[in-house]
Amino acid sequence: MPVLFDEKNKTFHLCNDEISYIMTILPNEQMGQLYFGKRIHQRPDYSYLLELATHRPVTAYLREDDRTFSLEHVKQEYGVYGTTDFRQPAVEVLQENGSRLSDFRYKGHQITPGKPRLAGLPATYTEQDSEAETLVLTLEDPVAGITLELLYTIFAEGGAIARSARLTNCGEKAVHLLSAMSLCLDLPDCEYDWMQFSGAWARERHLKTRKLTQGIQSVGSRRGHSSPHHNPFIALKRPTADEFQGEAIGFSLIYSGNFLAQAEVDTYNVTRVLLGIHPSGFDWKLEPQESFQTPEAVVVYSDKGLNGMSQTFHHLYQTRLARGFWRDRERPILINNWEATYFDFTEDRLVEIAQKAQECGVELFVLDDGWFGKRCSDHAGLGDWIANPDRLPNGVSGLARRIEALGMRFGLWFEPEMINKDSDLYRAHPDWLLETPGRPMSHGRFQYVLDFSRREVVDHIYGMMSKILEEAKLSYIKWDMNRSITECYSNALPADRQGEVFHRYILGVYDLYERLTARFPEVLFESCASGGGRFDPGMLYYAPQAWASDDSDAVERLKIQYGSSFCYPISSIGSHVSVVPNHQVFRITPLHTRANVAYFGTFGYELDLNRLTGPEQEEVRKQIAFMKSHRRTLQFGRFYRLKSPFEGNVTAWMSVSEDQSEAVVGWYRVLNDVNAPFTRIRLQGLDPSRCYQIDGKGCFYGDELMHVGLITSDASTGEVPVGGQPSCDFDSQVFVLKVL
Ligand code: DGJ
Repeated sequence: MPVLFDEKNKTFHLCNDEISYIMTILPNEQMGQLYFGKRIHQRPDYSYLLELATHRPVTAYLREDDRTFSLEHVKQEYGVYGTTDFRQPAVEVLQENGSRLSDFRYKGHQITPGKPRLAGLPATYTEQDSEAETLVLTLEDPVAGITLELLYTIFAEGGAIARSARLTNCGEKAVHLLSAMSLCLDLPDCEYDWMQFSGAWARERHLKTRKLTQGIQSVGSRRGHSSPHHNPFIALKRPTADEFQGEAIGFSLIYSGNFLAQAEVDTYNVTRVLLGIHPSGFDWKLEPQESFQTPEAVVVYSDKGLNGMSQTFHHLYQTRLARGFWRDRERPILINNWEATYFDFTEDRLVEIAQKAQECGVELFVLDDGWFGKRCSDHAGLGDWIANPDRLPNGVSGLARRIEALGMRFGLWFEPEMINKDSDLYRAHPDWLLETPGRPMSHGRFQYVLDFSRREVVDHIYGMMSKILEEAKLSYIKWDMNRSITECYSNALPADRQGEVFHRYILGVYDLYERLTARFPEVLFESCASGGGRFDPGMLYYAPQAWASDDSDAVERLKIQYGSSFCYPISSIGSHVSVVPNHQVFRITPLHTRANVAYFGTFGYELDLNRLTGPEQEEVRKQIAFMKSHRRTLQFGRFYRLKSPFEGNVTAWMSVSEDQSEAVVGWYRVLNDVNAPFTRIRLQGLDPSRCYQIDGKGCFYGDELMHVGLITSDASTGEVPVGGQPSCDFDSQVFVLKVL
């Protein structure tokens, strides 16, 4: 049984073969945290971990007859502010009398097999009850009339625990939730490095590491989407841990809106991690009998370094967060016309691009922005999801038929949440966007944000999208979102509910995704937000892949894809080969390197193959054939980061098939060397006792490749031998290892 309860000592022990998570009911009946980490033995009593015995000066105590029990010095499960704990709280409830103090006391608990769904929210799930067990702790604050349920799911395998909280107003007066985090975890020390994945448009998820220190460190978003600036994922690792060994804890929020990920180290070196909806501006009015469910957070413990942590996330998110028809299927190799044409295309031109791509083996053609309404530039058209007859005289269906006649599937771009003022939708419903009365409206790319907190708005967009999906029999949708939300205010909500708009907006987005994916279960959805501006687990629940970045340069992509891989599975990382000079950094990289990077993702092309030379087209044919032969290993194998682009000139990573019979290694060098040292790279995850051929040659035991290493020296070590391939800047190699 993964959830053990010791009645006498009031202790809960959530455990599987890898981890233990231990909690107790504190003397004041709040919930205390005792331990989270590597699996330890079950014992009835862990009360020694409470460390209550000392009296500390200048501390507030709860009872006059006890100078040991202060919440300030107790590790808790869902801390509150206002009595003896001065750290940032997990929850803040503004009550009718103006008080914000809460006191949630244990009332009971339930342990059930499997995992309940969270209504209206993306979350991990189980397919069989035996895959997990869920503990729901029920706590009550009788003064405020609020019931708090803390939900914990431990999966039978792997080091992951999913957590969330549900608050119900059981009183007679409305209250306001000013903060309701998904996870609060107090760790007994602060000997960690803090890792965040930050950047901006076109340089998303760059790894930043620093030592955790006393005080508060946090990342978050108040932009209405999880954003390219920070990701709702952080990790804490021991300073001595690395990719392959040592302790690491990852914290991930399954949410696509405003979030906060924070670690507060108090001056006793206790670390409190909070993860959830960003409290800034959040104010949810809870009427009597209403409940509020927080998004889900997932915390992963690994004692096998950062790769161990990532592999747990990959497995869980790939198999029990992503859903539906495409979850376990290899992803179609696609061509997208955006960088080939931008807004400048005709139907014939698109067919020309598709035809060449089909000849080379591409499986799916995606028509990007510009096919609808008066969309000839980014000034007009958003909201009018009807084909522009000047460009598509036979409608979307007509183009789809032509593409399918070539033997390819057809997909389409939408930006469902947005509106241009120059659109029929705006002319008909000028009040359907988010705007603050009396204030100027800021635009982003000349577009405004539809009020997705309103059911009628979501209904309308659903109607337009489903009509096209049905008529044109689309196989794929790219769902874009190209601006942050400003002047966030809904014309449809009263003043005391305006603090709900950001969250209601995201619930509206989830609702639209839910309805479309339910009605069109075989359509592949790819999420996008100016590239990776909403690359988060919330989206992954609906769209099993996401366009990782608008930066399609192979060198830049090393960092973006490497950073993404800390939490997100390779099958979710949208990656394409694009033209050179690259459109974002104007760099010229070899075609083989562009493909070698894109293989470790969904793979596709973002250019017009007709514009390539004959030999280049031939190379593309070979790339596509390569991808098709190794797609399962690349997208669904066990992924290992071997060398970091954040630390040097060389990057390396690899994917190993489930049965360890095949592995694909990617090796990339940014700038070339001359007369360079010999190099080898130690591999991971192979079967030590089996022999592998490398690119069809030789025979090397798995243990040799893992302990001696794979030789990666190339022509840069000396003069190029006659007939040999010279090395160059931005060079790379992909090695295929196959068991003999
Ligand atoms: C931003 C996306 O990331 C691009 O790939 C492209 O779809 C453009 N939007 C279209 O406007």
